Amino acid sequence: MDSFVIKGRQRLSGSIAVSGSKNSALPILAVSIMTGEACRFGNIPLLRDIQTQVKILNTLGVESVWKGREVRTQVKDTYNSTAPYELVKQMRAGVCVLGPLLAARGEAIVSLPGGCVIGERPIDLHLKGLEALGAEITLEHGNIHAKTPKGGLKGAEIYLGGKFGSSVLATDNVMCAAVMAKGTTVIECAACEPEVVDLANCLIAMGAKIEGAGSPRITIHGVKKLKAADWNVIPDRIEAATFVVAGAITQSPISITGCRPDHLLAFLDVLRQSGVVVERKGSTLKVVPGARPKATDFVTLPYPAFATDCQAQTMALMAIADGTSTITERIYPERFMAAAELKRMGAKISVANGTAVIQGVDKLSGAEVMASDLRASAALVIAGLAAEGETRISRVYHIDRGYERIEERLRKLGAKIQRQSVGGEETTAAAVG
Ligand code: EPZ
Repeated sequence: MDSFVIKGRQRLSGSIAVSGSKNSALPILAVSIMTGEACRFGNIPLLRDIQTQVKILNTLGVESVWKGREVRTQVKDTYNSTAPYELVKQMRAGVCVLGPLLAARGEAIVSLPGGCVIGERPIDLHLKGLEALGAEITLEHGNIHAKTPKGGLKGAEIYLGGKFGSSVLATDNVMCAAVMAKGTTVIECAACEPEVVDLANCLIAMGAKIEGAGSPRITIHGVKKLKAADWNVIPDRIEAATFVVAGAITQSPISITGCRPDHLLAFLDVLRQSGVVVERKGSTLKVVPGARPKATDFVTLPYPAFATDCQAQTMALMAIADGTSTITERIYPERFMAAAELKRMGAKISVANGTAVIQGVDKLSGAEVMASDLRASAALVIAGLAAEGETRISRVYHIDRGYERIEERLRKLGAKIQRQSVGGEETTAAAVG
């Protein structure tokens, strides 16, 4: 397993381009199941999760060829509609093939995704929405068995909110299943995330009739069939936010290019409250070095509020802020894995009942730490960039799931970061894809 070794307190400079959105690409690649025509998907990030999704699609008879930032697909056969446990357990987002399989083939067997380190990852809302459309669903031996009734799926009015509010992938699955259902479907309390809008826009380009994506009420009028997809996914807002924090915590005048600042307004507002100056110019965000950030409180909630996927990275910034901050996690109340590792670096953080209280320290000190989940690992990289001395982060495969060659890109900004394999010698990121 690879590790990162970071020598901290290096000022960064220059600009970094944002990759395509992982959380857009994963559900959008799944719509290749819904058409018999050849599809092209562009701006696809070079990530392990994309590799897993391509494997799942090939298992489902969708020939998927990934070259650089493009994936081309063509349905070759439809006799296997089982997304296997060994792939779905690696990436729970594999559950997003459920709606497309039901819409296209009338049946799906998808492994129950199980939980992960950020908390229990239920799929009750996915199943509730699909059953509302008429799907017959049973859970057997760790698998979801879903079948459409004889007459096919029928449009319905569905309230899709859970105790944590809307669900991104449940909205995706139900929207995909409704696209070729008979009649009209209304999804109330739909997720409004930009990635849901990107998926809806891709489906509309394929001939689907969808209104209201990006609002809590999405209306879908069923159509008979879909044309080919030819779609470039949106930039990754979470990656953009991660790099903005890297600039803020190292007081570096870096520019983050090719992003969508309008997808990050809640995050940028929290940084503004902490006194971090980030200039917006078109698709570029530029960090303006200034005084030490001020402690700031924030709560994670469904979009357009502060994204839970930006929480750990921002906690790393609050760890060196002036004063005491509180972070309340309303999406995944246990999602504070970064805290324990940041404390090894001198951070003063206490976590209880879904809230972290962070008492800012003057500086962090480098230490041996362990990556645990994608965003907590990114927080450790950010902390390592700012810490005094050397930080060694083990199990960086977590980071490779969601950040493309992050160490090479940070090195280009002047960071002193190397990837080391278990043997200790430096390696470059395995070509993913
Ligand atoms: C998506 O996951 C993202 N993943 C996650 O990003 C992100 O953290 C999450 O949305 C929230 O924004 C992808 O898009 C691939 P949810 P998803 O369903 O759709 C509860 C990353 O780091 N819930 O919106 O699985 C759930 O427990 C990843 O890139 C139910 O109760 O998340 C959570 O508390 C991590 N029942 C809340 O809703 C359900 O059926 C939001 O989850 C589904 C979800």
